Amino acid sequence: MKLLNLRLRPIHLTLKAFIAYKVRSTMFDKLLYIETFGCQMNVNDSERIVSTLADLGYAPTNDPASADMILLNTCSVRGGAEEKVYKRLANLRIYKRDGKKQIIAVGGCVAQQEGEELLRKLPYVDLVIGTHNLHLLSDMVRGAERGERRSETTFIDNDQRLDLFPSIRGESRLSRFVTVMQGCDNFCSYCIVPFVRGREISRRSADILAEVRQLAGEGVREVILLGQNVNSYGLKTEREPTFAELLRQVAEIEGIDRIRFTTSHPKDMSDELIACFGDVPKLSGQIHLPAQSGSDAVLKRMGRGYSRGTYLDKVHKLKALRLDIVITGDIIVGFPGETDEDFEQTLSLMEEVRYIDLFSFVYSPRPGTKAAELNDDLPRAVKMARLNSLMELQRRHTSEISRTYVGSTMTVLVEGEGKLPGQISGKADIGRIVNFAGDSSLIGSFVEVKIVKAYPNSLLGEL
Ligand code: SAH
Ligand code: SF4
Ligand code: F3S
Repeated sequence: MKLLNLRLRPIHLTLKAFIAYKVRSTMFDKLLYIETFGCQMNVNDSERIVSTLADLGYAPTNDPASADMILLNTCSVRGGAEEKVYKRLANLRIYKRDGKKQIIAVGGCVAQQEGEELLRKLPYVDLVIGTHNLHLLSDMVRGAERGERRSETTFIDNDQRLDLFPSIRGESRLSRFVTVMQGCDNFCSYCIVPFVRGREISRRSADILAEVRQLAGEGVREVILLGQNVNSYGLKTEREPTFAELLRQVAEIEGIDRIRFTTSHPKDMSDELIACFGDVPKLSGQIHLPAQSGSDAVLKRMGRGYSRGTYLDKVHKLKALRLDIVITGDIIVGFPGETDEDFEQTLSLMEEVRYIDLFSFVYSPRPGTKAAELNDDLPRAVKMARLNSLMELQRRHTSEISRTYVGSTMTVLVEGEGKLPGQISGKADIGRIVNFAGDSSLIGSFVEVKIVKAYPNSLLGEL
């Protein structure tokens, strides 16, 4: 799962399109500044927040000083997250001094975890909104405008949750997330997500397909099917299709030319889903398949439900069906009890898979998780040395794989201006960003681009 790594990521991507749309219906008289941390679920939730608050007259801004409301959409996947949120809030709070009326709100997974505690500890925080409570946001903000402080973190662990979820409007973009499921029941031993996102719930396929059809009608060309563990979609209910069946149904929708999904749990990656990579041409040639470790002993303690062997089997099947498939992943180093041999197994797994990108994390104990009870006694220096050698190997793989693309032709969905003047930019089928000289009139179309140079995070091409 691509984490934003606690990097600040103010939402400004669609400001122009958003305002153009909203101006027709609403008068903006207030400004909202929002920072998003963590995973795509949070990015998606931030889009819902922006849409919801537009109806109350809030337009997004990139300037916290001028904002009438500041919202941090937080992540608590790794330790220290709470402290980082406290620090960031303390910095943002300067804008609230001098009696300025400004609402400060905390959302996302730290909000879910800390709840009322945040209001108690930080008197300048007005609102704490949990991961299942976005439908209450309008009401909460209206209250805060009158000076009320409020925290809402009640879980809604039934189908109602998805019906209550506010939708995203006013975004004219070529690529859009479509939520297919929420929450997680896997309880990997190190992970806090099931505690802060609640039980796994699949959305009705009819609703998903209707949303994709509507997006296609609005000019969206690519959808990213979104959930903590999309490939266990529908497994809890007889009525719904499996994820592979859903994917095929989405692929039939005219106007949608590319489909991605995130995130996959290797244990639920069925043969039926793997087969889609062979015969659903609209399915992107990139898959995120987090292994977490290459050692069976560690995988067992992590409670991942697959072995090194079954993981690699799936990777080989995928590679056999799509020769050019590109795999990304997540690895945790320094899990309690990880020996040098275990770590070597992870490096050798990387050699066998050859990820194009890898998100690697040093293990950090999370409150309430099973692994937090294990003895986390590996010295920090060992953990860091392992992380560094893993990252070095990954840099080599990324650059070797990227270099093989030079000279090839890729189909790119042009999404916007490029890095340099005169350049436009888009995503290739394999998920890499490609920059190339071209006219902005091509934005919104698929074009064939010849790759001339490979950089660590992007490719340079020619039309
Ligand atoms: N649902 C996604 C994961 C979301 S969390 C999945 O299963 O793929 C994103 C990543 O954070 C995980 O894949 C894992 O690599 C990392 N992570 C989660 N908990 C962690 C912890 N306690 N310490 C270090 N990394 C962790
Ligand atoms: Fe966390 Fe495991 Fe669920 Fe992913 S599948 S969110 S790692 S518990
Ligand atoms: Fe972080 Fe919550 Fe996502 S803990 S990784 S923002 S589900």
